[in-house]
Amino acid sequence: MKLFIDTANVEEIREAASYGILAGVTTNPSLIAKEGRKLEDVIQEIASLVNGPISAEVSEGDAESMIAQGRELAKIHPNIVIKLPMTWAGIKACKTLVSEGIKTNVTLCFSVDQALLAMEAGATYVSPFMGRLDDADMEAEALIRKIADVKALYGYETEIISASIRNLKHVEMAALAGSDIATIPYKVLMKMIEHPLTTAGLKIFADAAK
Ligand code: G3P
Repeated sequence: MKLFIDTANVEEIREAASYGILAGVTTNPSLIAKEGRKLEDVIQEIASLVNGPISAEVSEGDAESMIAQGRELAKIHPNIVIKLPMTWAGIKACKTLVSEGIKTNVTLCFSVDQALLAMEAGATYVSPFMGRLDDADMEAEALIRKIADVKALYGYETEIISASIRNLKHVEMAALAGSDIATIPYKVLMKMIEHPLTTAGLKIFADAAK
């Protein structure tokens, strides 16, 4: 399973990229707003740090305005992926942008039916939200598994990005359920290396080495 980072903070991206395990970046309007910078400026800087897909989300609106904004954002760098909402306008924009060779990520996916629409529209990626399903007491792992099953059954090329990841359990569930990618916040990504027995083992070896 490929690992993306879910942030618009360039310092977090720079560090995560330095470990050599980062395959891409996803952003959303909330993450961009947190940085207090213009979407275009942040995306451009991220593209200079990471050689992989970078999702930039369009503002809500009708299909035509999403398509126009998507075309502009895609001009920033060949790695830009246009993130579109799971609405009919988003699906329509997805179909058009994909036909122009622009990569897309249909976001805010909470059901197999929605994922199916994104896959039929030729989306490069579809993003089911694990944490928000958990918040609503709905089965996150089961959804990822079902989408992965549908993808395999019909040979869709759309890649599944498990998003809204809040903890290590979500990363593990995404991997076991057959997600292609997990997009992980910086803090959770950093925790992936930790285990108390590793810490204890390191101390034993360090003491012995003295
Ligand atoms: O990129 C979308 C996703 O990461 C949102 O996460 O934690 O706001 O549900 P969260």
